[in-house]
Amino acid sequence: MGARLLCLCLLTALLGYYIYSPLPEDLAQPWTVMLTSASLRALGHLAEAAELLGLMNYMEGLRLFTALELVAPTSDENVTVADTELGSVPVRLFVPRRAPGGLRRAVVYFHGGGWCVGDAGMRGYDLMSRRISNEINAVVVSVNYRLAPPHRFPAQFEDAYSVTKFFLQSQVLSQYGVDPARVCVAGDSAGGNLAAAVAQQLVEDPEVKTKLRAQLLIYPALQVLDLDLPSYRDNAEKPMLPRSLMVRFWSEYFASDPALREAMASNRHVPAEAAQLLPLVNWSRWLPAEMRGAHAYASPAVGDTELARRYPGLLDPRASPLLAGEARLRRLPRTLVLTCEHDVLRDDGAMYAGRLRQAGVPVTHLHAKDAFHGAVTFLAGPLELAVAHRLLDACVGWLRENL
Ligand SMILES: *[C@@H]1O[C@H](CO)[C@@H](O)[C@H](O)[C@H]1NC(C)=O
Ligand SMILES: *[C@@H]1O[C@H](CO)[C@@H](O)[C@H](O)[C@H]1NC(C)=O
Repeated sequence: MGARLLCLCLLTALLGYYIYSPLPEDLAQPWTVMLTSASLRALGHLAEAAELLGLMNYMEGLRLFTALELVAPTSDENVTVADTELGSVPVRLFVPRRAPGGLRRAVVYFHGGGWCVGDAGMRGYDLMSRRISNEINAVVVSVNYRLAPPHRFPAQFEDAYSVTKFFLQSQVLSQYGVDPARVCVAGDSAGGNLAAAVAQQLVEDPEVKTKLRAQLLIYPALQVLDLDLPSYRDNAEKPMLPRSLMVRFWSEYFASDPALREAMASNRHVPAEAAQLLPLVNWSRWLPAEMRGAHAYASPAVGDTELARRYPGLLDPRASPLLAGEARLRRLPRTLVLTCEHDVLRDDGAMYAGRLRQAGVPVTHLHAKDAFHGAVTFLAGPLELAVAHRLLDACVGWLRENL
């Protein structure tokens, strides 16, 4: 009996230790955040074990979380919802039910999930699209681009681009009653990366006559050259997206290659020949002083030329929109960049806001001091967070005024 009790106590202590992770003091609803973060960590460990046993790739394991969160496309009193295809890319489509009273706005949305996981049909994304559609009377096209593995860069980008280009054709816009002057791209995390890359490519595509009105970038990933920015250092172990997972996402975008992953983990994946690109992601130049904090700048260590030759995507602006030159940035539409303090990707967004502003693009940079990566999607269920509603309201408010 005594031994069993001891075991129980030990197990409880172990479980408590596992769930408990020190959180920043300013996060509201810390237990919800901690439990969610612990569940994701547990799933991560299971996925690692399954990979070690040769059962599946790590990312396939993580996709279980996506599967658990999927909801059917169900229309409600305000919005008609359907899973369909646009230009042969699968999308979840949200069309407002109320009489349009003229042409509507449209938002092409790319979900997050590190190019490897996530789905437009996850509860959080479904709710977010529904709310945007209803509140600003917009057609929302939420895109299910291909994921890694098995699909690698640039497949994700190509799907995102082709669906946007398809939608921007005047006969398609008029079929959905959309005003060609009021279309934007939007996305969070890896989806913010795709939205930014799509917006950049569109301004250089002579076949596209319709110009985007705006881009909405929610804690976007915008560069892979330097994975040792102050935000990576400060937030390496913060909830939802630890640095190790972000490194894994970046490397899987290009290949399942342990050599690439290890090079990225030690920030030595950029070859000497690419040194001329580093000023574009030089945080000591592009970050405001309060975000640089007490960190000292060190440029990334010189990496293996062979690795960069094998994975040219490492130096491609379609993967790292921060690598675009100013001439290209200048032509981008008005932008909202939302960043969170407790996020490895914080500085990517802040640097892009700085570079866009320098290029003369109207930029709103909203920085949430009390939020973490992924916060916007916690809109319902046992894991609902007040901060999610606050941040989504801010995005919707901006769209109402700028789209
Ligand atoms: C429909 O829209 C109204 C007004 O915006 C809102 O109060 C209501 O909650 C919406 N219904 C659903 C199911 O979201
Ligand atoms: C980064 O910027 C700092 C000053 O802003 C400069 O001293 C340093 O040489 C730059 N390094 C690179 C690689 O651009």
